[in-house]
Amino acid sequence: MSTLGAEKTEDCEQETGFSIFMIEFHTKSVIINNNQNRHHASDHRLVLLTRRFASIIHQPYRRMLPDHYVLGKQKKEMGMQDTTFRENVVIITGASFGIGQHLALQLAEKGAWLALAARSQEKLNAVSELCAKLGGRVVAIPADVAEPALCQHLIERAVQEYGRIDTLINNAGIGMASRFDELQDLTVFEKVFRVNFFGAVYCTHYALPYLKETRGRIVGVASQRAKFPSATADAYTPSKHAMVGFFDSLRIELADSGVSVTMIYPSWVSTGISTRALQRDGGQTGTLSKHEKNAMPVEVCARRILKVVAKRQREDIMTFQGKAGLWLKLIAPKLVDEIARQSTE
Ligand SMILES: NC(=O)c1ccc[n+]([C@@H]2O[C@H](COP(=O)([O-])OP(=O)(O)OC[C@H]3O[C@@H](n4cnc5c(N)ncnc54)[C@H](OP(=O)(O)O)[C@@H]3O)[C@@H](O)[C@H]2O)c1
Repeated sequence: MSTLGAEKTEDCEQETGFSIFMIEFHTKSVIINNNQNRHHASDHRLVLLTRRFASIIHQPYRRMLPDHYVLGKQKKEMGMQDTTFRENVVIITGASFGIGQHLALQLAEKGAWLALAARSQEKLNAVSELCAKLGGRVVAIPADVAEPALCQHLIERAVQEYGRIDTLINNAGIGMASRFDELQDLTVFEKVFRVNFFGAVYCTHYALPYLKETRGRIVGVASQRAKFPSATADAYTPSKHAMVGFFDSLRIELADSGVSVTMIYPSWVSTGISTRALQRDGGQTGTLSKHEKNAMPVEVCARRILKVVAKRQREDIMTFQGKAGLWLKLIAPKLVDEIARQSTE
């Protein structure tokens, strides 16, 4: 309380103070009840009341609250689990490894009903087995998202299995690492677009009628590079820019449908994606980028994605640099270009 008091601005003092009183009052009652291993109905009412007051506090002021006042954590203390994804039918593309695999594992733990897609059946089966052990219902559906017919099959097979779709996570993607002026094979450019952009468009197209029925969720895993220029004019950055243009427009089209569209902008995540990035001749680089060495752990990335998707947030720019960069781009775009140039390997 004392550290909070020092940070508080005068403007919010009254409002925040009252809410903190409510939260503190609630925390104590939770601790007492937890000790006795009981959760009274009055406690739950108090949670709702506390949340209502907390929501009055303006977001920046709410961030000043010390960690143990965060309501999500109180929920955990009370043993109340987040049930958003329990029996939620989730399709994940690119689920055989990397971010998609970890999304699948974490969703399985939450009791989701999963339809996992990727090209390699063997790896997909291995992920499916792990998910099943964690308690999730799961079906593996091999599919190359660059092929519209296979995207249609993926959606129909998922509906056949579960009878509905609640969430579609467009995660499948491939990287590219080549200067445009060194590109030898133009089909590489096309290939990246077909997976990163058209793959998401095809899956969304076939899933949309079902998602409207369930007022579901659409997720696009883009990249922080979708917001900025990149050091090389290869196809990766423009494919993600296109993805964002598509989903930002679709969000408006779906405004009255109850279907939410969440865009994810990760920076580097340690999945080994740079070793699989396509080079100028279409082969994979096979080398790990220096940027990936100290990157965000993939489990952390997946956890964060699920958190924002559960809340149906519009978007998540995952790093402070990404958020600050957007402001910098407005006031000093040349500086942003220079930062991108300096980051060339
Ligand atoms: N890792 C990062 O630093 C980073 C940063 C920003 C954004 N992202 C984005 O996050 C997403 C996941 O990245 P990641 O790092 O997890 O990549 P990853 O480790 O390389 O995994 C990519 C996944 O996509 C699948 N995939 C690739 N091509 C496919 C196709 N044509 N059809 C269906 N599935 C396909 C792969 O499985 P198969 O090969 O078996 O098909 C794999 O499951 C991508 O969209 C990526 O652009 C990643």
